Formats: sequence, C-alpha cells, structure tokens
Amino acid sequence: MAPSIPLLHLAIAFAFAFSVHCVVGRYTSIFNFGDSLSDTGNLYYTCSSPNPAHVCFLPYGETFFHRPTGRFSDGRVILDFIATSLGLPLVRPYRSVGLGGEGISAQDFGKGLNFAVGGATALDVSYFEERGIHNVPSHAVSLRIQLHWFNKTYSSVCASSPSSRCRDIFKNSLFMMGEIGGNDYNYFFFDNRNITELTSLVPLVVKQIGSVIMELIELGVDTIMVPGNLPIGCLPIYLQVYATSNRGQYDPQNGCLKWLNQFSKYHNEQLQQELKRIRALHPHVHLIYADYFNAVMHILNAPKNFGFTNLHQVCCVDENRSYYFPMPCGLPSTIVCDDPSKYVSWDGLHLTEAAYKLIATSLMQGSFMTPQFSILQQNSSTKLLQLQ
Ligand SMILES: *[C@@H]1O[C@H](CO)[C@@H](O)[C@H](O)[C@H]1NC(C)=O
Ligand SMILES: *[C@@H]1O[C@H](CO)[C@@H](O)[C@H](O)[C@H]1NC(C)=O
Ligand SMILES: *[C@@H]1O[C@H](CO)[C@@H](O)[C@H](O)[C@H]1NC(C)=O
Repeated sequence: MAPSIPLLHLAIAFAFAFSVHCVVGRYTSIFNFGDSLSDTGNLYYTCSSPNPAHVCFLPYGETFFHRPTGRFSDGRVILDFIATSLGLPLVRPYRSVGLGGEGISAQDFGKGLNFAVGGATALDVSYFEERGIHNVPSHAVSLRIQLHWFNKTYSSVCASSPSSRCRDIFKNSLFMMGEIGGNDYNYFFFDNRNITELTSLVPLVVKQIGSVIMELIELGVDTIMVPGNLPIGCLPIYLQVYATSNRGQYDPQNGCLKWLNQFSKYHNEQLQQELKRIRALHPHVHLIYADYFNAVMHILNAPKNFGFTNLHQVCCVDENRSYYFPMPCGLPSTIVCDDPSKYVSWDGLHLTEAAYKLIATSLMQGSFMTPQFSILQQNSSTKLLQLQ
C-alpha cells in the first residue's frame, strides 16, 4: 500500500531535514548474508545428512515455531523482527527456493533471500585448515560462497528480464551484511589461540567484509546494513572457557570479561573505519553500521528493566549444566529452562528470542544505528509496538 499523500509529504520533509544523519527507506525486500545469528533455515536443509547439526532438533524453535526451523534460538532471530517491522514477510532461506536458485522468477527473486548459514565465516574455510584449526564444522560456508550463490541467482533472473527490473530490485531492497566474522574468531578462540594471533585476524576479516560490500555496491545496491560483533566477553560460553579467579578481569556492572569485550570493540572499530572508507568512495550509498555490541550491553547493564532474571545462566544446557563448544543444546541429554523469556542466553553462544526481539526493537527505533535509520513504511511504528 502506498502512503497517503500527507504522510508522504511529511516523510519527504523529514528525509530532507535529516538527510545528513538519517536514512529513510521504504523497502520491498531484504537480502541477507551471515551466520547462525541470522540463519532462517539454510542449515536446516542439511538436517537429513548423516551428522545433522544440533539445531535440527528441539528445543531449538520451541517458543515460536514449536518445531526446529534451523534458527539458532528458541524462536525468531533479529532478522525476523527487522523484516516484520518493515512490514515484510520473514526472509526465505536461499536453499528453500530450489537448488542453486536457478530458474527462480524475477518476481520471486524480488521478494528477497537469506544466504546466511550457521557456522559461516567471513574468511574462506581453507584459511582455518591451513592454520591447523580443525573445529570448523563441515557445513560451514564462507561469505564469498554466499556471494557466489547470490551472483548465480541474480544472474539467472537478470539475464531473462529487462535490466531495469533487477536495478529496481537492488535499489529497493535492504541488504544486510551479517553479523559475519564472529565465527572466524570463535574457531580460533576455541582452539586456544592467543590474543596476538586473534588480533592479527581482525584486519583480514574486516577487509573481506568490505570487499563483499564493494561488490554489492557495484551491482547498484543502495542500502546496506552492517552489524558489528556481539560483546563476546558476555557470552556464557566464553565466560565458561575463560573463567578466572582474578576478579579484576570482570566488569563489576555486568560480570562480563573485559579483555574479550575489548577484542569485540577492536573488531567493531576496524569495521567502522572500513565503512567510513567505503562511504567516502560511494557517498550516495546508504551504509549503516548496526551496533549489536551496545544494543546487547544496553540489556546486560540493566537486565531487570527488560524482565530478565538470568543474565549469564544458559537456558539450554546438558545434564551437567555445561555448554562447551559445540553447544550440547539439541542433544538427547539436553535440559531446557521453563521460561526462556527470562534468559538472555539460549545455548551459551546464541540468545533467546526475547533478547533478539529487544535488540531488534531498539535498532529499528533508531538507537544503535549510524547513520540513524528511520523507516518510511506505512504503519511501521504501530507494527513495531505490536511485535508479539
Ligand atoms: C559476482 O559477480 C561479479 C560480477 O557480476 C564478479 O565481479 C564477482 O567476482 C562475483 N563474485 C562471486 C563471489 O562470484
Ligand atoms: C601466539 O601464537 C603464535 C602462533 O601460534 C606464536 O607464534 C606466538 O609466539 C604466540 N605468542 C604468545 C605471546 O604466546
Ligand atoms: C556428565 O557428567 C558425568 C560424570 O562426569 C559423565 O559421565 C557424563 O558423560 C556427562 N554428561 C555429558 C552429556 O557430558
């Protein structure tokens, strides 16, 4: 539905007045690249393999879908809430539209696709093998492979329809680049690599994300939202692996490990520098940094304000209340908490639907986005408030 004329005028005036600081968009679809934080079902297509991932089983999905859907949570993830708040359907996994995405119609392609896969990395998977890192799951897919899937899909669509059709799709879609890169660090951290080696990985990860953004811009993409990394020093799996009796290493306000959060901040600063560099080259492109780090800290610094009673306890654990990597959630021995909405952490690494919903809501209300992001979408504010 088109906005009524007065609303449109207001929105245009608003866009004009705030054009320096605000991105005002009206999107017809979302294309997403990423890992388990935004997989809406790509990994699920490997569930019939001999070694299915834990996410193939309940209690994953128990709260909202009442069955596993391949989402690494008890319910919906941030991407689902962003889609809903834009008045769009949940973003379909690429693997649900037929092998290779070939033969998909322009109309179907125009509804958007999600290329994110649980376990995905920014760097090529061979990078980890070459450095003796053997904990990368066999289903892991790099960002470059996801871009390749996207290329194959649009090439097949755009070759058989007028070029203006694809241009319109790229212009009117919200592209999301992640979160991606978190696993590159997870695999090194969980292989006990030292902080010097981890730090040297950051520029490579950031450069890879930047190069994929540049390729999308060359295709005529108009808006790209780029989330930063979560505060890993607050994730229970890291708190368990790096537990220490040295109280000084913990932030007294929230119990997070300061040195690990410093690492996440370092990645996020490097990523924002890269975005700044790309904005200078392409000033007409809307490149938005989504500050997942501070969106999560906002909750963790005052959890009771948001109804959370369990900050660092994990909802889905094994019989020994452990959640070492790879997380036991989904195994037959899993124990799951009674009320996930009281927990921030779902399985030690991923968050609950309740936490994801809060993060998405604060993002879409304009907090934690640079530049600020407002939505020119009829009823979007009411939809936001009505998210159930
Ligand atoms: C995607 O296509 C563009 C040109 O259309 C090409 O430059 C780029 O290398 C391709 N990327 C991948 C990952 O296939
Ligand atoms: C960190 O790891 C790298 C690579 O394994 C090694 O060369 C280096 O000596 C280590 N540094 C420290 C401070 O342990
Ligand atoms: C829990 O701990 C017991 C005793 O150490 C051990 O036998 C059992 O295998 C553990 N369970 C899991 C799922 O690791």
